[in-house]
Amino acid sequence: MSSVRHLMYNRWLFHCSTSPSVNTSVCWHGRQKRLFSTTKRRITIMPAWVIDQYGGNDVLRFTKNASFPVITYPNEVIIKVNAAGLNPIDVGMRGGYGASSLSMKRDPLNLMQNGMEFPLILGRDVSGVIMECGLDVKYFTERDEVWAAIPPWKQGSLAEFVVLSANEISRKPKLLSHREAAAIPYVATTSWSALVNTGGLSKDNCAKKRILILGGSGGVGTFAIQMLKAWGAHVTVTCSQNAEWFVRDLGADHVVDYTSGPVEKPLSELEKFDLILDNVGGETERWALTLLKPWSGAKYVTLVTPFLQNTDLLGIADGMMQTAATVATKALKHLVKGVHYRWGFFAPSGPALDEISEMVDAGQIRAVVEETFSFSQVPHAFEKMEKGHARGKTVVQISEEDDYS
Ligand SMILES: NC(=O)c1ccc[n+]([C@@H]2O[C@H](COP(=O)([O-])OP(=O)(O)OC[C@H]3O[C@@H](n4cnc5c(N)ncnc54)[C@H](OP(=O)(O)O)[C@@H]3O)[C@@H](O)[C@H]2O)c1
Repeated sequence: MSSVRHLMYNRWLFHCSTSPSVNTSVCWHGRQKRLFSTTKRRITIMPAWVIDQYGGNDVLRFTKNASFPVITYPNEVIIKVNAAGLNPIDVGMRGGYGASSLSMKRDPLNLMQNGMEFPLILGRDVSGVIMECGLDVKYFTERDEVWAAIPPWKQGSLAEFVVLSANEISRKPKLLSHREAAAIPYVATTSWSALVNTGGLSKDNCAKKRILILGGSGGVGTFAIQMLKAWGAHVTVTCSQNAEWFVRDLGADHVVDYTSGPVEKPLSELEKFDLILDNVGGETERWALTLLKPWSGAKYVTLVTPFLQNTDLLGIADGMMQTAATVATKALKHLVKGVHYRWGFFAPSGPALDEISEMVDAGQIRAVVEETFSFSQVPHAFEKMEKGHARGKTVVQISEEDDYS
């Protein structure tokens, strides 16, 4: 409890830490004194936006009685959320997207009944302050300001507290407020996973490489442009015409407007690329791989994959078989033409965020917050996300001033 006392400035932590929240009674057994501690109900609950079923925006429900997160493993920390970031996957998950795979990840032995994931808390980015550390956590301490991308199988950040593994978190960049910091982790770790782990890029091999980003003006695109430019790559992006100034301001060298006609033709007239990051998917796969330099190790990495959709439609076993067959067939088909076809996925990573934090503090990457909502406006934030045409990220500021009523 000493750690908690450090944070007494916070209203909720105050509830958690002050002695009135703990009832202590004394029992005498022979000559020995034994203390019994019981916890009052108010420290086991917190305010949060939850869903109790999948559906449209009307399933979002505010409650002051969400379960307070607990440290289950010794490498976990509890974070007091200052700001939360939303991503397209939150809108998808609200409607049930990925429910089969995510349920399996939460409950691999299938011990729980259907629907045990509810009440489910959405929100994939967090920036906040560590309130409590598990016994094995050495690298972080209480009161550290941290940021993290929350895996979709864990409870999210649209709540006052969230519990995460210490491997998933990182110290927040000093240059950013919590609101700004909450715009980065999920898209940053997704870009890192796609470009570095899958695409094989790094700050040491990127100089002068020609990269094409399909869909450059959204959350992932705006982060990827900045990271690749910081590493010295030449970056071409596709986006709508009214986003051109925006992506150029982030560093894009060449911009192709997809709203004024098919982009294949203008892109095919350019020098070929070393890597393509596809944030759009669908038809793009038909022509994009012809834009790569053949027989040079060039890669096409798409973030729009049917993996979760397959398991939702076909069940875990058949969905995974179908997914494996699809990706293997496509990879082979393109390999004989001298280019690599890959699927990219989000992967939580504290170490990747450590490096990104350094880039932010060095002024190489800035937060692109499209719009900020208060905690009471979460349904509006989802409505806005559903309309699409993002120019960066949607952030929910969870401040002490909110009265949660
Ligand atoms: N596999 C994974 O683990 C993973 C993880 C994260 C994200 N994703 C996926 O990656 C994609 C991008 O994510 P995000 O967070 O960046 O989404 P986002 O913020 O919604 O951005 C999408 C962007 O795509 C642009 N766009 C739409 N149609 C386009 C087209 N035909 N050509 C070029 N640009 C187009 C839109 O810009 P305009 O306004 O200019 O039209 C919008 O800015 C999403 O499909 C998401 O689901 C996958």
